[in-house]
Amino acid sequence: MTPAPLHLGLVFGGVSGEHGISIRSANTVAAALRRGANAERYRLSCFYIDRKGHWWPPTVAEAVLAKGSPAEPADLAGAPSRPGFQGFPAGALDVQVWVPVLHGPNGEDGTIQGLFALMQVPFVGSGVLGSAVGMDKQAMKAAFAAAGLPQVAYACVDAAELQHPEPLLDRLEQQLGYPAFVKPANLGSSVGISKATTRAELLAGLIEAARHDPRLVVEQGVTARELECAVLGNRQLKASVLGEIRFDADWYDYTTKYSEGLSHTVIPADVPASLAERARQLAIAACRAVGAAGLARVDFFYEQATDQLWLNEINTLPGFTSQSMYPMLWEASGLPLEELVHELVELAQESDAPHRGGVDAA
Ligand SMILES: Nc1ncnc2c1ncn2[C@@H]1O[C@H](COP(=O)(O)OP(=O)(O)O)[C@@H](O)[C@H]1O
Ligand SMILES: [Mg+2]
Repeated sequence: MTPAPLHLGLVFGGVSGEHGISIRSANTVAAALRRGANAERYRLSCFYIDRKGHWWPPTVAEAVLAKGSPAEPADLAGAPSRPGFQGFPAGALDVQVWVPVLHGPNGEDGTIQGLFALMQVPFVGSGVLGSAVGMDKQAMKAAFAAAGLPQVAYACVDAAELQHPEPLLDRLEQQLGYPAFVKPANLGSSVGISKATTRAELLAGLIEAARHDPRLVVEQGVTARELECAVLGNRQLKASVLGEIRFDADWYDYTTKYSEGLSHTVIPADVPASLAERARQLAIAACRAVGAAGLARVDFFYEQATDQLWLNEINTLPGFTSQSMYPMLWEASGLPLEELVHELVELAQESDAPHRGGVDAA
C-alpha cells in the first residue's frame, strides 16, 4: 500500500520589498514539488501572504502564481481592515510540513519561523535563531567575528549617533577610510546600500540607510570578485560548487541585480580548486556560526591580488527562481531541482532540525 502523500504548505509573498521575487521563487519551488516522484510523495497547498500581511487560501495563491505578480486589492475581497497576520485561511492547520518561500523581513528573519515553531509543525530552513542572526548584518558579523571567520573591516552604527554626526564621521574615517559601504542591517537586495568615497557621501549614505533601519553597518570597500556557495543540511552540512556573479557596474546594486542582462553568473566559478575548497569550508563554518540549518547561500569577496577571501553575508532563504544561484549551484553539483526540494522537505523532518521546539521526534 502506498503511504498517503505528505501535506506540504508552501507560503509565499509577504510584507517585504522582496514580495515580487518571492512569487517567482514560489513558482519554481511549487512546480518542482509537483513534478516526477514528488507528485506521488506530496500534496501541495500554496498560501499567499499579501503585502499587508493577510494570509490567503490556495484559490487566491494559485491565481497569484499563475499571474506571476502580486494580487491587486480587487483580487482580495473581504480582506480584514487591520494589517498583519489575522489568522489562518482554510486548510492551513492541516499542513504537515511548511515550506516558507519568503525573502527579507517577516520571512527570512525568524518571525514566521517562530509561528511555525509555536504550532509545532516542521518547516524547511533555519529556525528562529539562525534566521534572525543571519538576517541582521550587525548580529551576523558579530557571530562571524566570534567564530574567527574572515570579514572586511567594519563598524556598527546606531542611527541615533547621526544626531551628532561629526564625531561619528571622524570615527568611521579613522577606522575604515574610503571607499566605504553603508548598509541598513536588515534589508536585502542592495536596498538602502551606498558606496561612499567622501565624507559628504558617507553622511548622505548614513542618512539614507537610517531611513530603512536604525541599525547600520559601515564596511571598508574592497575591489573583489563576488563568489557564492550553496549549503544544504542540518548538523551534517554539504557545500556546492562555487558560482561567481559578474556585472559591469561599479558594485552589485539593486538595478544591476534585477535588470535583465546587467549581470550574469558563472557556474562553476573559474577559480583554483584549492580556493573553491577554502570557500566551501568557510561557507559551512558561516552556517554553524549563525546557527543556520536546512539551506543557506553564503556570499564571499575574493581579492585576487592578495588571495584574500572574506565572508560577505549569509542568506538563509536565498532566491529560488529558475535563474537563482542557489538551485543552479546544486544543479551544477549533481542535485537537480526536484531532488533538491525533496531533500529540503526531508531535512525539515529530521530529528536534529534545530527548530523542532516541542515536537519530540522520539
Ligand atoms: N565591503 C564591500 N566592498 C565592496 N563591495 C561591497 C562591499 N559591501 C557590499 N558591496 C557591494 O554591494 C552589494 C550588496 O551588498 P550586500 O552586503 O551583499 O547586501 P544585500 O544583503 O542587500 O545583498 C555586494 O554584492 C557588493 O557588490
Ligand atoms: Mg548580497
